Amino acid sequence: MKLAISGKGGVGKTTLTALLAQAYADAGRDVLAVDADPSPCLAGALGFPDDLRKKLHPISEMDDLIYERTGAKPGTVGGFFTINPRVDDIPDRFSVKHRNVRLLEMGAVDIGGSGCICPESAMLKTLFTHLLFRKDDVLLLDMYAGVEHLGRATVDFVDALVVVVEPTRRSLGTAEQIKKLANDIGLTRLWLVGNKVRNDDEAAFLKTETPGIPVLGLLPADLAVQEADRLGIAVYDHVLALRQAASDMAKQLAQEL
Ligand SMILES: Nc1ncnc2c1ncn2[C@@H]1O[C@H](COP(=O)(O)OP(=O)(O)O)[C@@H](O)[C@H]1O
Ligand SMILES: [Mg+2]
Repeated sequence: MKLAISGKGGVGKTTLTALLAQAYADAGRDVLAVDADPSPCLAGALGFPDDLRKKLHPISEMDDLIYERTGAKPGTVGGFFTINPRVDDIPDRFSVKHRNVRLLEMGAVDIGGSGCICPESAMLKTLFTHLLFRKDDVLLLDMYAGVEHLGRATVDFVDALVVVVEPTRRSLGTAEQIKKLANDIGLTRLWLVGNKVRNDDEAAFLKTETPGIPVLGLLPADLAVQEADRLGIAVYDHVLALRQAASDMAKQLAQEL
């Protein structure tokens, strides 16, 4: 099962990815979670201990590896480099596992090809496609880039695009845009998750104003989410209401897909 988590910055993509990852891991599944944020923070949301966090480095910043695989130094423009470097060993070699969740930090990924033609983007693009082809039990992609960057492989291999929103019109507007862009490339398997819901009015608002995306579930607003971050522990362990809601979503997704 392959799930991509998208939505505007700050809505709770990383929080939801961490919750779903631990929910599947605790249900006995093998989980590979991929952090595609230029400033990775999924390890924190998963409550990875410091010694493991120190072992994690975004692939986008591994200059020597990128050089070794592509034949060119990151940051160089022009010259020759391979556009389909070997990447098959990378997920296992550079990921770190904690409580049955394997985590890989990719760093900033420009998978669309609109960005620079440079060794690092060739490397990340190839790696991203490789991840989609791999036969992991559960793959969760915490996306930073918008869906306009998603290509053909995503459409073919991602089972569902989960769009996270807050209970505001602006946030739903973004969701509508994401839906349109996703539909434009043929990706129609979308689910909406409402996060930071404070009361029944906000819950009702999300359920009635959804831009035609089925609602997978809602997560309550809870100050304990920030507290977990401050304490360096997993949201999943610290905020039981979120753990319960996310576990229900994980079950429903597994049934539907
Ligand atoms: N349900 C929630 N209740 C309260 N705060 C939340 C909730 N979900 C996320 N947050 C907070 O919102 C901020 C952004 O969350 P994050 O998951 O990093 O979003 P994104 O990955 O979409 O940028 C973080 O400070 C996080 O602690
Ligand atoms: Mg994030």
